[in-house]
Amino acid sequence: MHMEQTLILMKPDTIEKHLTGLVLSRLEALGLEIVAAKATVTTRALWEEHYANLKGKPFLNSVIDFMMGNFNHLPDHRIYAFVLRGENAISKVRAALGATNPEQADPWTLRGQFGCIKNDVMQNAVHASGTVEDAAREIALWFKPEEILP
Ligand code: TYD
Repeated sequence: MHMEQTLILMKPDTIEKHLTGLVLSRLEALGLEIVAAKATVTTRALWEEHYANLKGKPFLNSVIDFMMGNFNHLPDHRIYAFVLRGENAISKVRAALGATNPEQADPWTLRGQFGCIKNDVMQNAVHASGTVEDAAREIALWFKPEEILP
């Protein structure tokens, strides 16, 4: 067992549907602690850093457009970001999310329940870090050290 931290981002589809609290509640109920939380307005530069591992992928530009809320009806480029901490937090949260494509996600997972299966793969409700290395990089990108509980 490893004490881990993972970055959670509520995506614009979840924000637009007012499901942020419900999704966060389901993740918290895994036994994880909320150790950082913020509402923030994003820029394209932030997303380019966040998705540095997707550089060169044909879908990257539309993913960034989506993450900035450009396909939704949000008043700004807002995102709700959280750091969750607990035993094996990274794999626990990824299991709770389900497959990247909501159409392939099991129906009891968050993406299976709240992803937009009629739209496309990118509208998959929530982001969570995939590995320990990604989590460290992503948390440092979205939060200052003093914004995270010790
Ligand atoms: P990725 O990091 O591979 O998936 P995950 O979010 O499950 O860690 O991809 C980042 C996002 O890019 C993903 O949540 C949805 C979008 N995406 C596409 O739009 N098309 C694709 O073919 C893939 C793989 C991802």
